[in-house]
Parts: sequence; structure tokens; C-alpha cells
Amino acid sequence: MTTPPVAVADVRTVCCAGTGVIGGGWAAYFLAHGYDVVAWDPAPGAEERLRHLVDAAWPALTELGLSEGADRSRLTLEPDLATALAGAEFVQESAPEDLDLKRRLLADIDAAAPEGIVISSSTSGYGMSEMYTSCQNPERLVVGHPFNPPYLIPLVEVVGGEKTSAEVVAWTSDFFRHAGKSVITMEREVPGFIANRLQEALWREALHMVAAGEATVEQIDLSITDGPGLRWPVQGPMLTFHLAGGQGGMAHMLDHFGPSLKSPWTRLIAAELTPELRDAVVAGCDREAHGRTIDDLVAERDAGVIAVLRALGRT
Ligand SMILES: NC(=O)c1ccc[n+]([C@@H]2O[C@H](COP(=O)([O-])OP(=O)(O)OC[C@H]3O[C@@H](n4cnc5c(N)ncnc54)[C@H](O)[C@@H]3O)[C@@H](O)[C@H]2O)c1
Repeated sequence: MTTPPVAVADVRTVCCAGTGVIGGGWAAYFLAHGYDVVAWDPAPGAEERLRHLVDAAWPALTELGLSEGADRSRLTLEPDLATALAGAEFVQESAPEDLDLKRRLLADIDAAAPEGIVISSSTSGYGMSEMYTSCQNPERLVVGHPFNPPYLIPLVEVVGGEKTSAEVVAWTSDFFRHAGKSVITMEREVPGFIANRLQEALWREALHMVAAGEATVEQIDLSITDGPGLRWPVQGPMLTFHLAGGQGGMAHMLDHFGPSLKSPWTRLIAAELTPELRDAVVAGCDREAHGRTIDDLVAERDAGVIAVLRALGRT
């Protein structure tokens, strides 16, 4: 098996295995997008917690716009995993972040799920290569890493293990896009994927600063909510620094501030700013700008930051 048996647009039933914060958020998302959701979670009281989570998410999902046919009554809970999987055309596993548990659970899901359908894991940091070790069909297992709450934050990072088939990675990316998600398809496994690696760098530095008495918890939060955080919904850290270089863009920014990489501004060891790295970053910004001039990007950033400030009632 390489290509999943169901076309992306024909998926009707999603199985959510594990329905805590993330699995419950996925269930709400898929229901709002018109899917049937069959949920399974072995914990006592899981059904009540899941229905509460879906009910709490529904007003936000309604405000964003429900898909045709979207209905909370299309959620069913099954006490038996094999029964929950029987009619599924896609599986999203969101069990606790415990490697042994994931290994056992994914093997059980793989053994019981209909032939060829894709099994995706919400894991925050394990590579699929270390999780599918007991699975009979590793080619159909893939990471689909969401962000909390999955019913609101668009991004999903999709990455396979060494034995995951390329078709499954492509199918999963297409499926999430079809279901309305923003998808990053990663070429290879990287611990923490992309977004968690970036978040983690900031998080670790923040903890160092508190531990060393360099900043308070409140100062750290304010430094982001009233500083760089306001730009990031509009432009990511790369384009943000592209504009920090004025009309010279990223090339000027790197030539101007490159020497700061040698200063002790963070506990992270800085990458060596080789000519190759410099050129790769400059070229990436040019690709991302896609013909927009620095003036265009400045105007977009300014409009975006004003929109965010207005939305937050802070103008
Ligand atoms: N919380 C986040 O911000 C976040 C973000 C992205 C990804 N994730 C990932 O999502 C996954 C779930 O995390 P969470 O925050 O929802 O945890 P959680 O503790 O809220 O939920 C875990 C759920 O799994 C259930 N469970 C326990 N044992 C199980 C088993 N053997 N099989 C199936 N389900 C079982 C629990 O009853 C619970 O409902 C983890 O892999 C985590 O790394 C979490």
C-alpha cells in the first residue's frame, strides 16, 4: 500500500483517538467542517469532558462559519477502539505524550484500522520513526502536529518517518488543506518540528532570564505582547528582519547586524554567518516577498499591526 484508498475529498468519517485538550479540539474542528467524528478515549468521564469541550468551542466555530451539514450530533463515542476505527477513513491520535504509550497505541490502531487509511499523530515532538516501531504498516503513519486550540489555530506540521510513504505524506497534507488547515509539509524529521523548535528557543531563554534575575515574568510577557508579537501575525521573523534592513532588506540587515551574532545576546550558540547562509536567507526573503517591494511590505505590516491593535481594542 502506498496511496490511501480514499480520495481526500471523499473522507466523511474521522476517528479521534484520545480526546483531551488536543483530541477534543480536533473533534470540534472536524465536526464544524462537516465530518462525522467517532471518538475513543479510555479514561472514565472522557465523554462528558469531550462534549463539554466541543460545546465550549462551538460558538467560536459558529462565528467563523460552520460547513454545510456541520452538527454536534455527528459526534459519537465508542468504548471499544476497534469499533471506533471500523468506519474511519482517517485517524488522528492525540493520546498523552509518552513514547511507550504512543508505540503501543499506534500499533493497536494500525492493527485494527481499515486497510490503507492514514493514521496521523498529534505528538508535540516525537518523530514518527521512533513511534511506529511496533506497527505492521509503518508506511501509513505520519505526524500531523497541531497547535492549541486545533479548532482555531490554522497550522498543522506534517512529517513522515523514514518508512512513511511519500504518498501518505502528500495525501495527509492535501487532506488537512482540504479540511481548511494551513499546512507545512516537512521534508525530513526534525526534533520539535519547526514551530515548536522556535517556540522552545524563546521559552528556554525566558526561563534563563527569570532564573538569572535578568527579567521578571511580567516583563517577558509584555516584551512580546507589546513588542515583536504584534508583528508576527502579519509577517514571520524572517520578513520582519527583512524590513529591519530598510530599503536594503535582509542583505543589509545581515551585513549590518551580522557581527551581533558574536555578542552574548542569547544562551543559544549562534549559527556561523557564512556567505552561503547569508545568501540563502536573502534569497528566501526575496522568494517570500514574491515581487512586493520593501514599501509594499511596510504598508502590509503597518495595516496588519493596526488591525491587530484595533481587534484587541488597543488603539
Ligand atoms: N496541549 C498542547 O498544547 C499540545 C499542542 C500540540 C500537540 N499536543 C500533543 O497532543 C497530544 C495530546 O496532548 P493533550 O494536551 O491533549 O493531552 P491531554 O492530557 O489533555 O489529553 C490526553 C488524552 O488521552 C487520553 N488517554 C490516556 N491514555 C490513553 C491511551 N492509552 N490511549 C488513548 N488515549 C489515552 C486521556 O484520557 C486524555 O483525554 C500529545 O501528544 C501532545 O504532545 C499537545
